[in-house]
Amino acid sequence: MPKHIIIDTDPGIDDSLALLLAVASPEIILDGVIAIHGNVSTEQTTRNALAVLELAKASHVPVFKGCDVPLVKESLLSPETHGNSGLGYAQLPEAAAKPKSAHGSDYLIEQIMSRPGEVTLVAIGPLTNVALAIRKEPRIVQNVKEVFIMGGAIQHAGNTTALAEYNTFVDPHAAHVVFHSGMPMILTPLDVTYECIFTKDDLNRLLKIDSPITKFIANSTRFYMEFHDEYQSIDGCVINDPMTLALTFMPEICDYQNLVVDVDISTGVGLGNTFADFYNYEKKKPNMKVAMGVQPRMFMELFLERMEKLALKIT
Ligand code: BDR
Ligand code: CA
Repeated sequence: MPKHIIIDTDPGIDDSLALLLAVASPEIILDGVIAIHGNVSTEQTTRNALAVLELAKASHVPVFKGCDVPLVKESLLSPETHGNSGLGYAQLPEAAAKPKSAHGSDYLIEQIMSRPGEVTLVAIGPLTNVALAIRKEPRIVQNVKEVFIMGGAIQHAGNTTALAEYNTFVDPHAAHVVFHSGMPMILTPLDVTYECIFTKDDLNRLLKIDSPITKFIANSTRFYMEFHDEYQSIDGCVINDPMTLALTFMPEICDYQNLVVDVDISTGVGLGNTFADFYNYEKKKPNMKVAMGVQPRMFMELFLERMEKLALKIT
């Protein structure tokens, strides 16, 4: 039985790859996409989500606009990582489809409450929409099937500050609401995503197929690779968000630990830092399953194979 999935996302280069992977995966029915501020403004992430879905011939998937700003902090866009448009050097035409009129958080509530236990949420941007939805309708906590979250750096260095990962740093207060909500959560932190590099060889394999899909992947990831080279001396790029999506139907890519995870919301150098109480000093029940080990090639082979299939369909 395919899983019904809603993706909350800030496309974003790796977010776009997650959307493509969702469309390309028969294990998933992509019910809807909610845009959030993050890598670029919500206006732009909405535009990008619509354009990427159109590129993948999936314009039937409804797109909803979510929050424009974090709950408490100022927004923090990341043009140096994803480019001014959010899609690196890729240029997609404006999609014919328009976003739906409902707010993303209301759509999320309506979907979860009308199909208790059926909706899997994949949140791959800052968690503002999800936190807002929990505050508006706390019963979604018991009624969502599961929530896959890309975020945090448990034992890994941060990618935005020394301690914090981007999604949790941008809206740490939203992450705090979500982490403490009691939702069934599976976290994909930098600890596993940074083990898995999309390389130029991987890209060259895809480029053997002449398709708008492979051209898009090449033009977007070329920018992302330049960023990784300049800022982190990484040869290739880390594609965090599609890995998170892949775990919804291929969980064996990672090994997990049930952990008590929290996020620092105090003002200071630790803001947005995610940490686990490995020895359970506080004697609390674990609040999430955390991917802490990964088989990088298992994920990459899946990703490449699905992109090849999609590219062969869209020429
Ligand atoms: C996360 O931050 C964003 O830049 C990426 O899209 C990903 O969701 C990685 O820290
Ligand atoms: Ca993202």
